[in-house]
Amino acid sequence: MVSEDPSVPLLQMQGIVKTFPGVRALDGVDLDVRSGEVHCLLGQNGAGKSTLIKVLAGAHQPTQGSILMDGERISIPNPVAALEHGVATMYQELDVVDGLTVAENIYLGHELATAGVTQRRVAAERTRELMERLGHAEIAPHRAVGTLSAAGKQIVSMARALSRNARVIVMDEPSAVLDSGEVDNLFRVVDDLTAQGIAIVYISHRLEEIRRIGDRITVIKDGRTVSRGLDVAATATDELIRLMTGKDVADAFPARPGVPADAPTRLEVDGLTVPGQFADVSFTVRAGEIVGLAGLVGSGRSEILEAVFGARRSTAGTVSLDGGAVRKGGVDRAIRAGIGLAPEERKSQGLLLDEPVYRNITLSSFARIAKAGWLDERREKAVSEEQATALDMRPAGVERPIRTLSGGNQQKAMLARWLVHGCEVLLLDEPTRGVDVGARSEIYALIRRLADAGTAVLMVSSEIPEVLGLADRVLVVSEGRIVHTAPAQEIDEHRVLDLVMEGTGA
Ligand SMILES: Nc1ncnc2c1ncn2[C@@H]1O[C@H](COP(=O)(O)OP(=O)(O)OP(=O)(O)O)[C@@H](O)[C@H]1O
Ligand SMILES: [Mg+2]
Repeated sequence: MVSEDPSVPLLQMQGIVKTFPGVRALDGVDLDVRSGEVHCLLGQNGAGKSTLIKVLAGAHQPTQGSILMDGERISIPNPVAALEHGVATMYQELDVVDGLTVAENIYLGHELATAGVTQRRVAAERTRELMERLGHAEIAPHRAVGTLSAAGKQIVSMARALSRNARVIVMDEPSAVLDSGEVDNLFRVVDDLTAQGIAIVYISHRLEEIRRIGDRITVIKDGRTVSRGLDVAATATDELIRLMTGKDVADAFPARPGVPADAPTRLEVDGLTVPGQFADVSFTVRAGEIVGLAGLVGSGRSEILEAVFGARRSTAGTVSLDGGAVRKGGVDRAIRAGIGLAPEERKSQGLLLDEPVYRNITLSSFARIAKAGWLDERREKAVSEEQATALDMRPAGVERPIRTLSGGNQQKAMLARWLVHGCEVLLLDEPTRGVDVGARSEIYALIRRLADAGTAVLMVSSEIPEVLGLADRVLVVSEGRIVHTAPAQEIDEHRVLDLVMEGTGA
């Protein structure tokens, strides 16, 4: 029931403190959320946003502080209790189970998942309704979640939150894996929910999204609330950035020096085909050039990178590096030849979560760092620390397990891996996914510096402005084909979207 007294917020978190061994992740956070609003949580990477919502979700116990619903103090000892209090959470790191079906994931731990045939049929039916409501009727209840893309998994996670009849739904960077059409879908659903009085706590590093759907904003910096319940419409973007970072940040892309006419071709892809994903893809990337692939989720962008890297088996076509064909046969060959890939779904594709940060950074460079076959840990740490400093990773130490880093800082570690390795060709899939506004411009500058040093960079981003701002040349991908190539300065976002739509026949 919605509280009778409108002056009492639906949810209040007061003076929340959370310490981990050696880290004070939250140092007194206040948050109040009204029913029917979209309340945005803003803050730099490592500020404490995910930790706060894990406290609310019953996944972490607060060291201090209180949580109130309808003005009454509650305790949330575990995730089930959170659901009972009407709080459902979509986590930043997708937590769906690959080995189970869509319906099983949605009704996991729910009575509909257990026992009889009837319950299963009801669960399948409800799943179908939820998927329709989310604009994804094609995701069938019986499909194994492991076969879905990152965006598909996000949608399953969303359906699960919706299935709980929550009063507060927390979304931790839901849009990071979605393209613009899917973000529109998400926002439609959010409007629906808030119209029913449900409160949304929304986390995103994309300020334009916050302008579109946010009502109020709470800003967290270094584990503390620095601004509480700001009115979105009345707060300028510059002001938000200052509150988050403590300084002014120019969101400028680095200057494009222009690729010299005599720059050699580094990467040449000719007629590459992976059945069911993309066909007859040909392009080149020269030394010093950044080429961006623009297209929708599912258009084949990521799959192209994976095939170049040898992580997907192609049935036709060749990949050449500096004029010599890279022999097919997997990732090891590609890495040895000098190709690196920072994948989009870092948790399942790239990181060793229980290993220390430095091991994750040096992972592909063992051969060079090892001395006479023995790993030299001191060097590993020194090399990693240098990168951690250059990328402003927080906390700065490289010895903690990487799973304890915030999402954006894990992303930086993934980039650091290839910086240490030093590739001829660097493939970047969503390089700034989950990275805050301040660190973004640092990453852009770093990618440009790599190119200036002769690396050929091939990148994918769901944010078209990012592709247009960073790349020298843009390849528009639609339905597994390259439908257009242009210098980035000669094409704009509208044109890209038009080309994508023409390609899909829509
Ligand atoms: N399980 C843990 N053990 C130790 N430290 C942790 C743990 N979880 C989080 N931290 C630390 O707490 C701080 C806050 O992290 P949190 O994940 O909440 O940041 P965030 O605001 O969500 O950042 P991002 O935007 O990058 O997702 C970071 O310094 C992080 O390293
Ligand atoms: Mg987070």
